[in-house]
Amino acid sequence: MASAFVWQIYLLFLMLSHGVLELEASHIVYRNLQTLQPTSPNQTYRTSYHFQPPKNWMNDPNGPLIYKGIYHLFYQYNPYGADWGNIVWAHSTSEDLVNWIPHEHAIYPSQQSDINGCWSGSTTILPGDKPAILYTGIDPQNQQIQNLAVPKNLSDPYLTEWDKSPNNPLMAPTTINKINASSFRDPTTSWLDPDGRWRVIIGSKRNHRGLAILYRSKDFIHWTKAQHPLHSANGTGMWECPDFYPVSTSRSGLDTSVIGLGIKHVLKVSLDDTKHEYYTIGTYDHIKDIYIPDNGSIDNDSGLRYDYGKFYASKTFYDGLKNRRILWGWINESLPQPEYVKQGWSGVQAIPRHLWLDKSRQQLVQWPIVEIETLRTNRVDWPSTVLKGGSMLEVSGITAAQADIEISFEVPELEKADELDQSWTNPQTLCSQKNASIKGELGPFGLMVLASKELQEYTAVFFRIFKGQDRYVVLMCSDQSRSSLNQKTDKTTYGSFIEVDPIHEPLSLRSLIDHSIVESFGGEGKACITARVYPTMAIGDEAHLYAFNTGMESVQISKLSAWSMKRAQIN
Ligand SMILES: *[C@@H]1O[C@H](CO)[C@@H](O)[C@H](O)[C@H]1NC(C)=O
Ligand SMILES: *[C@@H]1O[C@H](CO)[C@@H](O)[C@H](O)[C@H]1NC(C)=O
Ligand SMILES: *[C@@H]1O[C@H](CO)[C@@H](O)[C@H](O)[C@H]1NC(C)=O
Ligand SMILES: *[C@@H]1O[C@H](CO)[C@@H](O)[C@H](O)[C@H]1NC(C)=O
Ligand SMILES: *[C@@H]1O[C@H](CO)[C@@H](O)[C@H](O)[C@H]1NC(C)=O
Ligand SMILES: *[C@@H]1O[C@H](CO)[C@@H](O)[C@H](O)[C@H]1NC(C)=O
Ligand SMILES: *[C@@H]1O[C@H](CO)[C@@H](O)[C@H](O)[C@H]1NC(C)=O
Ligand SMILES: *[C@@H]1O[C@H](CO)[C@@H](O)[C@H](O)[C@H]1NC(C)=O
Repeated sequence: MASAFVWQIYLLFLMLSHGVLELEASHIVYRNLQTLQPTSPNQTYRTSYHFQPPKNWMNDPNGPLIYKGIYHLFYQYNPYGADWGNIVWAHSTSEDLVNWIPHEHAIYPSQQSDINGCWSGSTTILPGDKPAILYTGIDPQNQQIQNLAVPKNLSDPYLTEWDKSPNNPLMAPTTINKINASSFRDPTTSWLDPDGRWRVIIGSKRNHRGLAILYRSKDFIHWTKAQHPLHSANGTGMWECPDFYPVSTSRSGLDTSVIGLGIKHVLKVSLDDTKHEYYTIGTYDHIKDIYIPDNGSIDNDSGLRYDYGKFYASKTFYDGLKNRRILWGWINESLPQPEYVKQGWSGVQAIPRHLWLDKSRQQLVQWPIVEIETLRTNRVDWPSTVLKGGSMLEVSGITAAQADIEISFEVPELEKADELDQSWTNPQTLCSQKNASIKGELGPFGLMVLASKELQEYTAVFFRIFKGQDRYVVLMCSDQSRSSLNQKTDKTTYGSFIEVDPIHEPLSLRSLIDHSIVESFGGEGKACITARVYPTMAIGDEAHLYAFNTGMESVQISKLSAWSMKRAQIN
């Protein structure tokens, strides 16, 4: 993310000579993070199979790739504390995307072009299987500029050491190109067009217009800014961490330079103003070098999201070994800053997701990588069961705080659905107005996870069905209002409409539960919601898992399988 706001804090941080400065009441900047670091990070909310470093601050996933059969994840990391600052590229590798080993930091301030920070970027595989990283460096004038780093030793599958180009910076703001030096960051993976030139986009803004600034190069060293951005959208503000790639309805992924018949392109941006991401699906015209979102693909903060909960600064890569495109995303804390600093660590990565174009060609579908299923153990299955209105069922026999659950519902009496009011256009607002305890005809029904025995605490992930003008409309919600008795945690309720047809298909829900994370996939991956929660009672063995139906009408549980999840080697 590396927002301008955080940057201003960082400048203040540098300017301070002593003590603690209070900024806007809730933001405290510590001059010396090291002295405030707890001796050992608090383990209460740490994850067992979601990636995180042993301590300190982590944000954006950077430059994911596979090289000689080894998966690499780099990430924005503060070696000195649990708050943002001193940013380097930390580095871990894996053979299965589940178990990880740490390496020395791959990229850290070492030359003029990154002396004040090594911010986000991406990897491109150049011809001859040669990885190259483009990343944002912060120079002595605190300008955001783009740099190149290449592996020191291509025979080393762990790519532990990186050489920075003596030509850095390769792209920089000038008085001629009029790029805003405080809003020019996060280069994408590059793609090669039939004209033999590489393309890359970099996030930026002009006034309120979000920009994907386009550069071209023949040799990956000398880059020329194109006259026009690849795409822009007014009213969206700064675009961080853009991602641009081809997709098709086949679950097989496409390498970033592939163009051709039947292929659509996706442009995803992370909005610094709202901390939401959105993506459009559209067409890449490689002659004009522009991207045009499809008619109907909303091009602003109301657009489609990978995830309607906590998920930001995401990035995909093409996995040539298993022929799929994989998405990484950062799950931020939902605690005030002093609380996570006290905790001694901050930030988790979501489980990598396989992603492809839905058969409607109007949205993406995501599913946790199949490898995560190797952690499943103690499978429990329920026979088909009727869940009467106002009832619940405990899913026992698994470790409820560290679990994977798949459940499907069939709704026999759809015609009883409540009418959808025309004014209910914002699903998140609708989910908070009609939360987990508001009784409807059809719904809420779903799961209560990380629940305490007496339900003082629980996170409810659920569906509601409404009768729209000419079809049934399904709402998916994740309600955090009762997740924690700690009043300081963010209790925002998340929600999305979900394009499923309850007449012809069961309503499915899968949740990956990991102590303080609830990552939910509705409709076989058509809508995803990740919640960050901090139960005070439903911790470890005290956590329970329930299926519930608070609606008037019965629903049928047509499938219910749950597993305990084994601990992964997360770093
Ligand atoms: C760790 O955090 C939990 C939850 O906030 C808290 O109850 C506990 O006291 C903390 N442990 C230590 C050793 O600070
Ligand atoms: C490069 O990496 C290979 C494989 O790890 C190693 O055997 C070799 O010694 C390395 N070369 C240098 C110059 O470090
Ligand atoms: C450049 O971006 C910074 C950071 O968002 C902003 O404060 C500033 O107003 C921008 N400058 C111009 C000229 O738009
Ligand atoms: C861009 O949006 C702003 C408000 O966000 C508006 O004031 C301005 O007129 C718009 N500009 C264009 C070219 O549409
Ligand atoms: C997009 O939709 C508009 C209005 O509905 C229509 O005028 C236009 O022809 C459509 N464009 C394409 C390429 O379908
Ligand atoms: C986003 O775009 C849609 C469709 O063009 C428009 O109806 C809506 O008002 C826009 N929302 C925002 C927040 O700009
Ligand atoms: C992360 O969470 C903090 C509060 O815990 C909030 O201030 C910040 O805006 C969040 N950032 C993103 C990208 O979600
Ligand atoms: C639902 O809304 C009511 C009224 O605003 C609130 O008291 C309650 O805590 C919310 N959450 C749940 C899960 O009931």
